Parts: sequence; C-alpha cells; structure tokens
Amino acid sequence: MKFSARTGWDRTENDLSRVVAEARKSATSRFLDLTESNPTRCGIVDTRSLVAELGDPRGVLYEPNPMGHAVAREAVVAYYARRGAHVSAANVVLSASTSESYGWLFKLLCDPGDEVLVPSPSYPLFSFLADLEGVTLTPFRLEPERAWRIDRDDLEASIGERTRAILLVHPNNPTGSFIADADRAWLLEIAGAHGIAVIVDEVFLDYAFDDARRTTPPSFAGERAEGEGDQALTFVLSGLSKVVGLPQLKLGWVAVSGSLADVDEARARLELIADSYLSVSTPVQLAAPALLAAQPRLVAAIRARTAGNLAAIDRCLESPEGRASGLSRRPVEAGWYAILAQSRWGDDALVEALVRHDGVLAHPGFFFDFEEEGLLVVSLLPTPADFEAGMAAVVRRVFALTL
Ligand SMILES: Cc1ncc(COP(=O)(O)O)c(C=O)c1O
Repeated sequence: MKFSARTGWDRTENDLSRVVAEARKSATSRFLDLTESNPTRCGIVDTRSLVAELGDPRGVLYEPNPMGHAVAREAVVAYYARRGAHVSAANVVLSASTSESYGWLFKLLCDPGDEVLVPSPSYPLFSFLADLEGVTLTPFRLEPERAWRIDRDDLEASIGERTRAILLVHPNNPTGSFIADADRAWLLEIAGAHGIAVIVDEVFLDYAFDDARRTTPPSFAGERAEGEGDQALTFVLSGLSKVVGLPQLKLGWVAVSGSLADVDEARARLELIADSYLSVSTPVQLAAPALLAAQPRLVAAIRARTAGNLAAIDRCLESPEGRASGLSRRPVEAGWYAILAQSRWGDDALVEALVRHDGVLAHPGFFFDFEEEGLLVVSLLPTPADFEAGMAAVVRRVFALTL
C-alpha cells in the first residue's frame, strides 16, 4: 500500500519512552510526572458547572456557520475588549483548536514547499503541523543571553523567496518569554515589507507572572494604530485549551487584522476552508459566552498554581542541597513551564536517571531544540504535593551526580 511521504514519520519508540513506560509499570511509589500540562488532570478548579453549559437545549439544532456562531464570536470579541483590544466579530473565525487553526492558516498561505519562519526553541508540535501541510519550517534564533529576544539578523536573513509567514509565540512555550515591545513594530514592518503574514500564537497570553512585568504586553489582535505595521496581515491564535484551561471542549479561534483588502481576501478564503470541515461543535459555541465570562476566575486559579510551583522551585534551589547541586532556574515571564539548568550532565542522561531511579519525569531540553545542553523543562501545573516531591527528587539527583 502506498502512503504519503508527509505522514511517513519515524514512529519507533525512543529509549526514553520505553524507560518511562517501564518505570510507570514498576513504580512502587507514585510516579511523579513533572511534564503533566493537561489542566484537567491537575485538580486546579472544579469545572463541572461550566462543562454542564454544553447541555444548553438550543444545542439540539444544527445550523452550521463556517466562520462560527455569532454568540461565540461575540464572546471572543468581549475577551479581547477586556484586554483593551478592539476586534470585530466579522474578523474572528472559530476552529476546534489552535492546532486546527495552524492547519487552516498553512493551507491559506502556503503551497507545498513554501516556508514559515518559526522561533527556536519553541513548541515541538509545529513540525508535525507543518509536515501535514507540506510546509517547511525555517527556524530563527531566540537569544538565550538576551532573555530570548528575537535575533533580528537571523530572522531577516531567513526570509526567502518561498517564505509565506513569520510565526511568533507570545509568550513562547517553553521559554516563557513575550515578544519584546521593541521588536513588535519591527516584526510587523518587516513582514509588511516582504508581503508575508504574521501568525501570533497567544494561547498563554493571560499567564504572566506578577513579578515579571507590571503589565502584560498587549495582544497582537485588533486594529492597530496608524503607522504601527499596519500593512502586515496578522492572524492571532488562541483557544479554550489554555484561555480557560478546558482543552477537552475543543474551541479555538483566529482573529484577523491588517489592511482591508488583505483581511477581506483572507476571511473569504478562511471561510471556505472552515466550510470544508465545519469542525466546531454547536454546544461549545453556545457555551462560549459563559465559559469566557468565567475566564478571570479560572485564570486566577491556574496562575495561583503556576506561581506557587515556581516559588517551590526557588525554595528547593535555595536549600543547602539545592545550592550545592548547581541547579538553577531560568527567568520566566509567563506561561505554564519553567526551565531548570545544570551543566554536569546531558539532559537526556539526567532525565533517564530521574525516571529510572526516582520515578520522576521532566522534559529534556533537546525536545524543544535548545542550543544549550543539560536543560530540563517542567510543567508548573502538577499538584503542589507532587510538584514539591518531584522537585526535591530532581535536586537530590543532580546533587548526587555532583558528588
Ligand atoms: C504554544 C502552543 N500553541 C498551541 C497549543 C495547542 O493548543 P490547542 O489545544 O488549542 O490546539 C499548545 C498546547 O500546548 C501550545 O503550547
């Protein structure tokens, strides 16, 4: 049987997955998964009454609208209005998830073989989403020594004949870094000048750490002020997975902005793409106003969890064993992840030792294409008890390796 080259990924189980599967099976005490970033498994908030909103009796009727139901699009508009961004419902397209939105945007902008510039390090799923559309990803460097600011020279040099978009993650996963204010206008200008689009993934925009900045940087969504890169066609992506921590409900969106002509064309084409799938369920669209109205409470609960676990890392690292281990935490502005650094061991060897000997799982840095060796990435969502026990084990293991 012949299959597409696009889906011919190497599916052989890697060593780490094998070791993790064995450790989970044979664990005598609780296996502590510090990569757990599914909020529905972390006991953060009781969402039963919100999920019950999907039982709205109006959901018995199927009246498909490719762009999404008006009530849901208006709820997205209200979400941006709360953050001071003016988005009109006509420029919002609903999808089943941010991942699906990426697929639609790659179809909209790229022919097979065209390129999209992506930050490195960043979210590993991009390579699969791009493969599925026959799109080539060209990485541009985020500079670790400058708080993950964009390396402008590298980005500019990467724009070629076949470049169709610059993808930004604001704030980035897993570095937790926002697009710097100083780079914002530059990015929109350079994209406008080359006639390429900007795709901005803002799924973690509401998760700034209080002490990192006084105010969260603005969204890229909405009409821009005169002269502020007003030529670049911009697609802002987000969705319920992170915005309210309910990934199982499957609702994402794209907010389109730019020049009138570009926006009109993009919207018309997106409507046909969305019409080809009609993937968004009616019940979730009807529930969107209630779900997004509950957002401040849900975000507050998730932020309390991530801030608490971040503080737990710092307490662990300040303990005598923590100090002696040479383990440190990289600064983080926002998001659900923290980066731990040590220089004595390769990240894969350390992760494997943690799984085998301590029943603790963290992501090795290479998973996200960090240039630096020895980094671990941990999710800040696990319960405080699991997180502290896991972090204590990480510190003990790194300390033991230093002896
Ligand atoms: C940066 C980023 N974008 C998109 C997604 C996927 O979001 P969705 O569940 O809406 O597809 C994730 C999920 O972790 C993510 O980290």
